[in-house]
Parts: sequence; structure tokens; C-alpha cells
Amino acid sequence: MQHLLSLKDYSKQQIEQILKLAMDLKANPAKYADALKGKSVITLYEKPSLRTRVTFDIGINRLGGHAVYLDSQNGAMGSRETVQDFAANLSRWSDAIVARVFEHKTLVELTEHATVPVINSLCNLYHPCQALADYMTIAEQHDDLSKVHLAYVGDGNNVTNSLLLAGAILGATVTSVCPRGRNVDAQILKEAEALAAMSGGKVQVADSLDGLTDVDVLYTDTWVSMGDNTPMEQVTELFMPYQINQKMLDNTGAKQVLHCQPAHRELEITSEVMDGPSSFILDQAENRMHVQNAVLLTLINRDMH
Ligand code: CP
Ligand code: NVA
Repeated sequence: MQHLLSLKDYSKQQIEQILKLAMDLKANPAKYADALKGKSVITLYEKPSLRTRVTFDIGINRLGGHAVYLDSQNGAMGSRETVQDFAANLSRWSDAIVARVFEHKTLVELTEHATVPVINSLCNLYHPCQALADYMTIAEQHDDLSKVHLAYVGDGNNVTNSLLLAGAILGATVTSVCPRGRNVDAQILKEAEALAAMSGGKVQVADSLDGLTDVDVLYTDTWVSMGDNTPMEQVTELFMPYQINQKMLDNTGAKQVLHCQPAHRELEITSEVMDGPSSFILDQAENRMHVQNAVLLTLINRDMH
């Protein structure tokens, strides 16, 4: 475990260890107040962020470490100087690099030239920190993740990919329900199926919720990811049948609703559900900080657990 680019590189045991540490960080913050003392983490953004930026910054501070925020104001990575030089320089000053990038290949290039851990905080293909927070939030309500059925509804994207892969490793049942042509990438689905075959989990894709009545957790994300320029009218028409609303909760039997946010109220989720008793969306946002701190401790400070 040197970097975190995708959870598919992690074993069930490693993910469970991170979730366990995250829960301890949440329950006993004082124990970890100096865990990253003297350590510096660069957080690098090619795209906007609220939750990721704030949770890494405040989370690192709560462990006694120092976070340095870098956006693209001095030119996108690779334009003012190469990604190789970027990675080599940052490695001389910092103890880890957290990066939100357009293309997954930029992260791979960072790992090739960095001598410190690189953590993916969202790319076109994956959002592993999000999926860790999601399964932590589910685990807070369910003792046994292998008995959980999560249905992701909406646009098959980076968040869906990471949910499928992590769910498959953890032995959960994950169904991705997306309009035809907008479901998850075939290659990632194949990888998730192979991981599920090893863990006893199950991954499946569908284009409608018809007949899905045994769902524990309903999950959605924006219909328009950063960098997607599909016109809004087109998006609304295609995705409206996939909106998470009270009727969908009643039909599927789901007791827990998740959304990684930013949310678009009355589009992918109604306010009634988002603000209702089944919503664990703010727990999910809080848990980003705890799992990310667990990842940082695991990758930077191996003595703490
Ligand atoms: N869920 C998430 O990653 O939110 P931000 O884009 O605001 O960081
Ligand atoms: N799928 C979304 C997630 C935002 C946190 C995006 O990539 O924009």
C-alpha cells in the first residue's frame, strides 16, 4: 500500500483496516491529535471542490499536520512544467500528495515520479476516498456489509465505478441502475465482477428499478459530472425516471439514502428525501474526513495502527 489510486489495488482486509481506523479516529479524536505532527500534505486541484478540499484541510490539521492547497492558478499541471518535475519537486517538501485531476493517467504519472504516497481525490474514472466514506457510513448502520444491497441510480460515473469496486471487494451486493448507454464502463464492470467472485459479493447492472424490492441503500450522484457538457434539457429528459424520491424509497424498501454531493435538489434527488429521515448524506460528508485521515495515517505514518 504505497498509493491510493483505485480501491481495486486494495484487499478486503486492507479496506476493512482503513474503515476500522476511521471509526476509531471519529470516536477518539484526542488519541490522534499529534499523529501527523511535523508532516505536510500537498492537496492539488484541477477541478472545483468543497467537501474534499475542506475535509482534507481540516482533517490534516486535526492530526497536527499541515495541508498546502494548490489549484491551477499557475497553469494546469503539465503546462508550466512537466508532471514529472511537479511530482519530483513536491516529493522533496511534502509527505504525501493528494490530487484531483481530469485524467487518471496524470495520477499514474505522478506515482511514477513521486517518492511520497499519491492519493486520488477524484479523477475521470474513480473517487476512492468517496467510496471509503460511503461504506463507512453504511457500516455505521449495518453490522455486516456482506448482507447489504446497495443500488446506485443515475449516471454511471467515477463515483459508481468506485462504489462497485469497493462493494465487490467487501462482499456486498451492488446494483448499478442507469439509462442505457450511461451505465458503468464495461471493463470496470468486468473487474468488479471478478473481485465479487472472490469475496462472495455480487455486482449487477440494470436500466430500470422494476422488480428491485430488496434494496437497503439507495445512492445517487449528479447527472452531469465535472467536464461533461451534455445539454441540461437532454440530461433531464433521460434521467428523470431515475430521480430518488419518496416513491422510489417505498418501492425498493430502502432505509438509507446516500449522495456524494454536490446535490441538485429536485433533479437527481428530491428535497423531501434529502432532508428526510432516511438521508445519511451529511454523515457521509463528515465521514470523508475520518476515512481520509485513516488513509493518510496508513500511507504516511505506519506506526499509528
Ligand atoms: N463529494 C465530493 O467529492 O465533493 P466535492 O466535489 O465538493 O469535493
Ligand atoms: N461524478 C461527480 C462527482 C463529484 C464529487 C463528478 O465527477 O463531477
